[in-house]
Amino acid sequence: MNIKKIRKDFPILKRIVNKKKIVYFDNAATTLKPIQIINAEKEYYEKNCANIHRGLHEMSENATISYEKTREKVAEFVGAKKEEVIFTKNTTESLNLVAYSFMNNNFLKKGDKIVLSEMEHHSNIVPWQFIAKKTGAKIEFVNINNEFEVDFNDLEKKVSGAKIVSFSGASNTIATIPNLKKIEKIVHDNNALFCVDAAQLIAHKKINFKKINADFLAFSGHKMLGPTGIGCLVGKKEFLEKMSPFIFGGDMIKHVSKQKSVFEETPKKFEGGTPNIAGTYSLREAITYLEKVGFDLIKKQEINLKKICLDGMKEISNKEIEFYCNEKKDSSPIILFDYKKIDCHNLAILLNEEGIAIRSGFHCAEPIVKKYNKNGLARASFAFYNNEEEVNYFLNKLKEILKQL
Ligand SMILES: Cc1ncc(COP(=O)(O)O)c(C=O)c1O
Repeated sequence: MNIKKIRKDFPILKRIVNKKKIVYFDNAATTLKPIQIINAEKEYYEKNCANIHRGLHEMSENATISYEKTREKVAEFVGAKKEEVIFTKNTTESLNLVAYSFMNNNFLKKGDKIVLSEMEHHSNIVPWQFIAKKTGAKIEFVNINNEFEVDFNDLEKKVSGAKIVSFSGASNTIATIPNLKKIEKIVHDNNALFCVDAAQLIAHKKINFKKINADFLAFSGHKMLGPTGIGCLVGKKEFLEKMSPFIFGGDMIKHVSKQKSVFEETPKKFEGGTPNIAGTYSLREAITYLEKVGFDLIKKQEINLKKICLDGMKEISNKEIEFYCNEKKDSSPIILFDYKKIDCHNLAILLNEEGIAIRSGFHCAEPIVKKYNKNGLARASFAFYNNEEEVNYFLNKLKEILKQL
């Protein structure tokens, strides 16, 4: 496959914004969807629009088979067992599931330590804050150093006595992809559990749950070409079996009497209520699409676009742009920056007038962004279906804006 051919699969790339062809550099917020994914969702509604697990009629059986087939596909994609894959709404719900289950199981108690990093997204901070308040546990944050890397000395210090360490596998702001294997060893040597927020990693780098040896892995379908409203929590079976459910109701039970219920085995006990069945059709197709493109091509294209863009911005900036992101080859395809002469929101508005979508503000990671600028920062984020022409257009428009200031 080549990028020119790939771009034809994305109908939205023909979209006109402010009379200009869209240039979408907000991929870290959500990815665009190829036609194959859109059609897969349509297939469910057109051909098998039925609820799963409880019907004996053909459409229900087909939908159930498809739902479980997606579970197998996800498991294969991330190197986990089928029973270790739980469907959720998104990364946020996956992380809440872990945090709530720990509280409900009395795994976290007064004085226990939860360790996060300074670069976390709110969805890997706020659930822990809530659970810490309820249980009396405390949260410590591992520093990010001046090179935008995890400070391993600080991690070594803070991990001591921790019950759980929950880190981003890739930052949605500073573009850091930490060495998960190195973190895992430190965490497990200290008898803590290791949870990885893979929301920004899943579409950019091949993940192997078994090899990383994390205890939990959370991600969202919409950040990997898939639909909104579906995500996954992958967890080691030995822990999932011990954890109590998070959402209670239909489909997660074996038997219900007036006073008590018997829950299903994992993963079903975590999937209360009608799930996003249509979403599983398209999530499976999204994985197939990513596999067809291949992570070699994805990486190559993203590294190239980030480099061209960074080099170009440095050339035109005349020291007026400050960068707040990891620029290493194995970083995320994200550029976090600040124009001295213009507020990031105004810059995003001016770029939108040219058909360019970037993001501005705190990016749901207020602690790390505020460390660099209390008013927020601008972010351009790429995906493999972006091309050099778009980067050059972005650079030209940035240059024009800078000239006018
Ligand atoms: C690193 C990271 N974690 C978690 C999330 C939350 O994802 P969702 O909103 O799909 O739950 C995001 C979304 O931007 C993210 O970038």
